[in-house]
Amino acid sequence: MDLFEWQAKELFGRYGVPVTKQRVVSTPEAARAAADELGLPVMVKAQVKAGGRGKAGGVKFAPTADDAESHAKNILGMDIKGHTVHTVLIAEAADIGEEYYFSFLLDRANRSYLAMCSAEGGMEIEQLAVEKPHALARVAVDPVAGVDDAKALEIATAGNIPEAVRGQAADVIRKLWDVFVGEEATLVEVNPLVRTPDDKVLALDGKVTLDDNASFRHAEVHEAYRDTSATDPLEVRAKELHLNYVKLDGEVGIIGNGAGLVMSTLDVVAYAGEDFGGVRPANFLDIGGGASAEVMANGLDVILSDPSVKSVFVNVFGGITACDAVANGIVQALSLLASRGEEVNKPLVVRLDGNNAEEGRRILSEAAHPLVEQVDTMDGAARRAAELAGKVA
Ligand SMILES: Nc1ncnc2c1ncn2[C@@H]1O[C@H](COP(=O)(O)OP(=O)(O)O)[C@@H](O)[C@H]1O
Ligand SMILES: [Mg+2]
Repeated sequence: MDLFEWQAKELFGRYGVPVTKQRVVSTPEAARAAADELGLPVMVKAQVKAGGRGKAGGVKFAPTADDAESHAKNILGMDIKGHTVHTVLIAEAADIGEEYYFSFLLDRANRSYLAMCSAEGGMEIEQLAVEKPHALARVAVDPVAGVDDAKALEIATAGNIPEAVRGQAADVIRKLWDVFVGEEATLVEVNPLVRTPDDKVLALDGKVTLDDNASFRHAEVHEAYRDTSATDPLEVRAKELHLNYVKLDGEVGIIGNGAGLVMSTLDVVAYAGEDFGGVRPANFLDIGGGASAEVMANGLDVILSDPSVKSVFVNVFGGITACDAVANGIVQALSLLASRGEEVNKPLVVRLDGNNAEEGRRILSEAAHPLVEQVDTMDGAARRAAELAGKVA
């Protein structure tokens, strides 16, 4: 999960990283009030999960409360790289002497962590890496040894942080390491980390990615920082049901077992759909290996509640979980949905192949659900599902 700047800096503050005081608001009036409360001047900063907000006009200096209010008015609702601004951060404006860059990230290729540090921060890191690669220090961090004071100083030195503030920068780096480890992040980035004219070091921006696989160990933070405003409500519901679901914008609902199979199902349906007025897949849903009736029911439930879905293609290749188990799962899922009062009112095309396919097909034929059709091949089933979706449309 990527965090908003305000969330990242709130976490930084908890670990003793120096940040400016801040308030998150969603109206111009609240922006004015926050500016008055924090003391002027302030910065008004768009809160979207995208970089380059400054360049896009989403970060403004406000010397007066009037300015804070009018900047907030302009920035709220703005579109920055496809993200709508719903909230702005009002932050104390800092005097900036110099801008540095700092980050901790996963170095997958080397199976370790990496610290990146540069005395030439401010600009986007991709640009710095291309234009001045020598100015961007990359220091490997042993995951077991971690970052102590000496390591932090090594990183600050490699990044050419001026001596006058190098000790302070190293202290910030060690605290950022505490954030990285303590919150189980895969990225902690500060750009800019600034030096004020009176030689204080401050984090003015923050970017943090938390490891979703560790969310169960950090339930409070993950819960508090979860952003449902930008997520599709069906995706939110699917996530609550622990389903691997991604909403797409077509008409054929897709359920499959195994990510690879589902990916190729999307392709086959999109291809078949060309013959039926450009019908396309409505979602990605991988119900995984051991598809129980309940998982199948939850999957169908999410897909059927998508109003753009006109037909559903259940594509299962029996492996460790044999087709007869999956077929029973489908039959039970349909009665489970009926007992929950969820009407199954869209046609289902089922293709079962692989381990115990014959038995699976027999079970489905015997159940003879009026909306369930079986097609033996993946291409044939995709065609039929697309046809059904096209017709109803
Ligand atoms: N609290 C602040 N006080 C003074 N200047 C700031 C403050 N926050 C940001 N800035 C300035 O605005 C620039 C862009 O802000 P930043 O938070 O880095 O957004 P982004 O990286 O998305 O453009 C910074 O490089 C800095 O020069
Ligand atoms: Mg920045």
